[in-house]
Amino acid sequence: MRTLIIIPTYNERESLPRQVDGVREAAPDVDILVVDDGSPDGTGEWADERAAQDSHVHVLHRTSKQGLGAAYLAGFAWGLERDYGILVEMDADGSHQAKQLPSLLEHAGDYELVIGSRWVPGGSVVNWPTSRKWLSTGANTYVGLALGIGVKDATAGFRAYTADALRALDLDSVESQGYCFQVDMCWRVVRDGGRVREVPIEFVEREFGTSKMSGDIIREALVKVTQWGAQHRWHQVTGVFRRRNDA
Ligand code: GDD
Ligand code: MN
Repeated sequence: MRTLIIIPTYNERESLPRQVDGVREAAPDVDILVVDDGSPDGTGEWADERAAQDSHVHVLHRTSKQGLGAAYLAGFAWGLERDYGILVEMDADGSHQAKQLPSLLEHAGDYELVIGSRWVPGGSVVNWPTSRKWLSTGANTYVGLALGIGVKDATAGFRAYTADALRALDLDSVESQGYCFQVDMCWRVVRDGGRVREVPIEFVEREFGTSKMSGDIIREALVKVTQWGAQHRWHQVTGVFRRRNDA
C-alpha cells in the first residue's frame, strides 16, 4: 500500500534534514509530506530545496502557525486526494525514530490505527524531564478515566492510519488545535468501531530546537477531554435509562 509520512514543522531547520534522511533510509519506498506553518527559521525553504532534488519529498506551505491539528488535517487532505493507503504522523525533531518505522508499518493496514506507544511494555522515554513524564502519564491516565478507551498512549504523535479509517471520519468537524488533536483522533477512530493497536517505541527527547508545548495547549486538552468525557458519560447514563424505559 502506498504510504505517506506527514511531518508537521514549525522552526525545525536543524532537526528536519536529519529526520528526512532517516526516513528515506529506513523506508525508501514511502513518500514524505512536510507541512510547514511558515517557519521563520527557513525550515520551509530547506524542505522546498530537498523536494526539488527528491521526488519522494513534498511540501505543503501554510501561511501562519495554526497548531498541530490544523497542520495534520491539511496533510491528511493532501494525502487522501492522492490516494495514499496509509497515512503516518511523525514529529520532525527526532523523537520518533525512523528506525522504528518498520515496526509501526508492520501492522498498518491490519488496524485502522497503529500507535507507537511509550506507555506499553517495551515502550520508553529517553531524556525527558520528570515534569514531562508526569504530564504525559497524567494526561493519559485522565484520558483513560474520562473516555474509557483502553489506549495507553492516546496523546502519542507517532501513528499510522488507514486511508479508509480517515475517510470514514468527519474530519471537517475536528476543532482540536494543539496536541489534544491526537486524543481527539484516537477517540474518533474508537467510536467509529476502528481497531487500535499499540506497538512499543522508544521516544527520544529532541537534541535541537525547542518544544512547542505550551500552557494554552495543556489548557485546551484539559477542557476538551473533560467535555468529551462528560458527554460520553451522559450518553452512557441516558442510554441505560432509555433501555430501562424500553424494557
Ligand atoms: N506545522 C506545524 N504547526 N507544526 C507544529 C506546530 C504547529 O502549530 N506545533 C508543533 N508542530 C510540530 C513540531 O515542529 C514537531 O515537528 C511536532 O509538531 C511535535 O512538536 P514538539 O513541540 O516537538 O512536541 P513535543 O515533543 O513537546 O510533544 C510530543 O509529545 C506530545 C504529547 O505526547 C509530540 O510527540 C506530540 O505529538 C505529542 O502529542
Ligand atoms: Mn518534540
